[in-house]
Amino acid sequence: MTIEKPFRTIIEPFRIHSVEPLRLTTRAERASALEAAGYNLFELAAEDVPIDLLTDSGTGAMSVEQWAAIQRGNEAYAGAPSFGRFRAAVTDLFPYTHVLPTHQGRAAERILFTATGGAGLIVPNNTHFDTTRANIESTGAKAVDLPIAEGLQPAARRPFKGNMDVAALERLLSEQAAAVPLVMLTVTNNSGGGQPVSMANIRAVGQVCGRFGKPLFLDACRIAENAWFIKTREAGYEDVPVAHIIRQMAALADGMTMSAKKDPLANIGGWLALNDDALAERCRNLQILTEGFPTYGGLAGRDLEAIAEGLREAVDHDYLRYRVRSVEYLGEALEKIGVPVVVPFGGHAVFIDARAMLPHIDPLAYPGQALACALYLEGGVRSCEIGTVMFGLHPDGTERPAAMDLVRLAIPRRTYTQSHMDYVIEVVERVACLASDLPGMRIISQPRRLRHFTARFEPTSQARPPAARARRGPGAAG
Ligand code: F0G
Repeated sequence: MTIEKPFRTIIEPFRIHSVEPLRLTTRAERASALEAAGYNLFELAAEDVPIDLLTDSGTGAMSVEQWAAIQRGNEAYAGAPSFGRFRAAVTDLFPYTHVLPTHQGRAAERILFTATGGAGLIVPNNTHFDTTRANIESTGAKAVDLPIAEGLQPAARRPFKGNMDVAALERLLSEQAAAVPLVMLTVTNNSGGGQPVSMANIRAVGQVCGRFGKPLFLDACRIAENAWFIKTREAGYEDVPVAHIIRQMAALADGMTMSAKKDPLANIGGWLALNDDALAERCRNLQILTEGFPTYGGLAGRDLEAIAEGLREAVDHDYLRYRVRSVEYLGEALEKIGVPVVVPFGGHAVFIDARAMLPHIDPLAYPGQALACALYLEGGVRSCEIGTVMFGLHPDGTERPAAMDLVRLAIPRRTYTQSHMDYVIEVVERVACLASDLPGMRIISQPRRLRHFTARFEPTSQARPPAARARRGPGAAG
């Protein structure tokens, strides 16, 4: 018998079918774009961004099969066969009784928490994503993060840093069970560094929830990546297909919210799925009010088709091996050049520890924002601050440093190649050389909620470095 010997290089398991040109920009162009954007990268025009690592949400490339499926989209208002195919693909992995399509993940969150939230209530999670937190808080409820201690230590190398602190959940429930309508687990834990949650942790959280009679919901945006980590890191799952692991994860919970813009490989979409008939009824009424009729929700029939096909591709082992390896490739290179990064690397992004990289910048002068602006200015790489700008402002108007100040380099799915990543590595290296000169940031205007999207900033030093510095670097986009 011949045993197939694997090659070292894990290739992109696809070839490029149609291309989207990138506009290369000069440093001077980027300096003025940054200033016009109020140093908020969400305010940049995408044409001014050569390498866009702002998010992995809805930015992936669809496959030929997805584009073909789009042609089968049936746009009947009620009972479209596209909904049947969507529901079959969803329930194949997540066998919940009720599936409510929504226009994206946050719409599912809004429906779920409008139905279950309210003043005085508490919703625990390993770490809430910002829209989840905002949807809970907007009902008057409190969103509580219960990550394990290692989840807040960027340099702690543990396989499942996304886990929830089960003892803390148990304490919370023994003291205030009546105030908790449900418990959530975010897989992978995006705001905590894209770290996975183990099957053992999901089971333990589910058991505690069961004891207190509380439903457990998964925020399942990146569940395929999480399942791949379970397969490759948790004993006993080596030979279990990812689709089976996902079914096991789903069976430990009572429902889910989902953004189809992440692992399901679509550009738009989401859903809420659950078993509880009475709660589903309330949610469906809310869905009809603002999303649409239950068989299309906030989506066109063609979107439902793209999601159904994307879900099948998302659990393909060759795809997931490449996906996780390409993130690791970027992370390993940054670690090698001495950039402080969250380890081990998550499934969808590499997170730079901006607080450690820019120790001269106080957390309330936003080291993550300063670093993200420098990466754009120097090399046209757009990233996302996940730190004090995103989480530091509280509903009572007070501001405190977030647990970590991270900058996320999120990798869109099936979109960039290895040479793009090599270029990103060079850009980060150059910014690392300038680190001690980077100024902090000051907020000059901000809304009361979700300020990271629209706040305007200015650098804290009078000379407005680095934008005003005359230095001009070489580089493909510079
Ligand atoms: N939950 C998690 C863990 C997320 O990462 C996101 C979105 C959502 C819920 C909301 O889903 O965007 O479809 O409404 N995350 C994106 C990001 C925006 O950049 O990480 P959505």
